[in-house]
Amino acid sequence: MSSSVITNIGSLVTNDPALGEGPLGLLEDAALVIDGEHVAWVGPGAGAPAADESYDAAGRAVLPGFVDSHSHLVFAGDRTREFNARMSGRAYTAGGIRTTVAATRAASDEELHANVARYVAEALRQGTTTIETKSGYGLTPHDEARALRIAGAHADEVTFLGAHIVAPEYADDPAGYVDLVTGPMLDACVPYARWVDVFCERGAFDGDQARAVLTAGAARGLVPRVHANQLGHGPGVQLAVELDAASADHCTHLTDADVDALANSRTVATLLPGAEFSTRAVYPDARRLIDAGATVALSTDCNPGSSFTSSMPFCVAVAVRDMRMTPDEAVRAATLGGALALRRDDVGRLAPGARADAVVLDAPSHVHLAYRPGVPLVSAVWRRGVRASI
Ligand code: NIG
Ligand code: FE
Repeated sequence: MSSSVITNIGSLVTNDPALGEGPLGLLEDAALVIDGEHVAWVGPGAGAPAADESYDAAGRAVLPGFVDSHSHLVFAGDRTREFNARMSGRAYTAGGIRTTVAATRAASDEELHANVARYVAEALRQGTTTIETKSGYGLTPHDEARALRIAGAHADEVTFLGAHIVAPEYADDPAGYVDLVTGPMLDACVPYARWVDVFCERGAFDGDQARAVLTAGAARGLVPRVHANQLGHGPGVQLAVELDAASADHCTHLTDADVDALANSRTVATLLPGAEFSTRAVYPDARRLIDAGATVALSTDCNPGSSFTSSMPFCVAVAVRDMRMTPDEAVRAATLGGALALRRDDVGRLAPGARADAVVLDAPSHVHLAYRPGVPLVSAVWRRGVRASI
């Protein structure tokens, strides 16, 4: 197994408070040693042990690779027209999902593989080294299982979202669709997923339906996560907490009771700034969640309808500008927060034993991710100890 050392790191985010300053465990003038797939050592540059290869960071910032814990990459087709209409004043509704369902069902396996691979590579170029992705544009047992199989070939974490919307064939029989999702569709999908998700929202699934989907998935060993409180107030967040879901995602419209419930749980509030940006909606209030004691993650929600970005740096910048997060909080939420939302302790931090997933920025500090919005600052990426060609 070969080792390498990154020297001359101007500022290193470890996300381990025991290793450096503050919650980010920040170290200046640092070095990082990689052995095989893992971090072997971090500390002051002067004390770095020797390694087979060396990379000179030349005073630039290094941080853990981003952990994007929420995306929808298995799709075909394009919704430019819908985006255009929204930017002319039309409101976002979940109905557009049907357009993507039709295009995805009609696409070949090869086309879907190529699409997912393209977006995972796009994300990697922007520093994402761990990515979750979902089904949800198939909505038949065959098409959902196919989406999950394809997702698993490219993504680190896979989520069954058969309950994205009621399939068009069941428009007049939503109860029948929930029976399909919790029965034959779940049977077909369980082998390919770790997580079960539901879009709990007016126009999609109500609290009782969402509970049926999540408990059926949990009974088969899938761990719940919930699309909750995106378009309005509703039961999603409370349900997520009650079922000990790994995350409640969106969290845009929260009551005080919702915030309290999250703060007193281990359910991570995953905020998705790209969705509010691209639907021209009001942003979630991260400050309110953080001050209450909730754990917050940031993710892209990359999908062709509500948030067609794969860029975690973009999400960090928006979260700082418009969601009352400090740059430190946003960077932590985009790395360690995502890891917590996926219940992983091997990613999202750069400490001995963690996976060697690191990003070098063309900047002296991680703060530049928010300070220099839209600028491609990611200049080198290591994933599982290997320097990626980006
Ligand atoms: O997370 N909210 C539900 N699902 C996606 C949107 C999917 C779509 O519009 O195609 C989301 O924003
Ligand atoms: Fe989503």
